[in-house]
Amino acid sequence: MDLEKPLIEIRNLRKEYIMGEEVVVALKRINFSINRGELCCIFGASGSGKSTLLNQLAGMEKPSKGGVKIGGVPISHLNEDQLAEFRQKYIGFVFQSYNLLPMLTATENVALPLMFRGVPEGKRNAMAQSMLQKVGLGHRLHHYPGQMSGGQQQRVGIARAFVTKPAVVFADEPTGNLDTKTTKEVMTMIKNFAGTFKQTIILVTHDPEMTVYADRIVKLVDGEIVSNETKKQTD
Ligand SMILES: Nc1ncnc2c1ncn2[C@@H]1O[C@H](COP(=O)(O)OP(=O)(O)OP(=O)(O)O)[C@@H](O)[C@H]1O
Ligand SMILES: [Mg+2]
Repeated sequence: MDLEKPLIEIRNLRKEYIMGEEVVVALKRINFSINRGELCCIFGASGSGKSTLLNQLAGMEKPSKGGVKIGGVPISHLNEDQLAEFRQKYIGFVFQSYNLLPMLTATENVALPLMFRGVPEGKRNAMAQSMLQKVGLGHRLHHYPGQMSGGQQQRVGIARAFVTKPAVVFADEPTGNLDTKTTKEVMTMIKNFAGTFKQTIILVTHDPEMTVYADRIVKLVDGEIVSNETKKQTD
């Protein structure tokens, strides 16, 4: 994995879905790059292609044309095993609906990606609990998802995404189900974690207020980029 700039390169990306007779063009000739340590907002209206783009970036789907490189690795051309290994090493995910496992406690949910990496139980639980402390959930270590509020569940989700210190974290509407105050807390946490280890965040949103947290804002309309702006960091 090459951490030289730019970390993520998207070249001539096109994605179409065949629906019987009809071809739905979800993304057309997408070209842009994201530098290491940036928080990149992919912003646009419903149906503009945001989730489709995120799916191509994370290697969840194969593009119809063009491709994505992360750290020089051509992820659009990896097979399933190679992708699984790549994701496990370098990628974290935060989901709108949290996607915690209901039968596992907060600690066990956060420890799960460490288990897949072969970290022994005692160590992974200690690391998970340390992350949960950092997201302000030191008093909810043994709660199950169903026993926590939405904001608390998303903080568990963030602890889980960052516990392995992945180079890249993908987040699709991570605050879509949260109120304004909790959204602010969650975004501040994401920014702080990412800043500490120079992690790159790709965040999908339809909410213009979320773009205040971004270093780069890529705006999509009908599957095309209409603007790609970077902001100077103030801190
Ligand atoms: N699996 C699929 N098969 C066919 N068409 C699809 C598929 N996935 C997405 N599309 C179409 O591609 C376009 C982009 O969809 P996408 O889910 O990326 O939008 P979005 O920007 O994430 O919207 P939202 O904000 O509502 O989540 C839409 O017109 C959608 O109908
Ligand atoms: Mg979407």
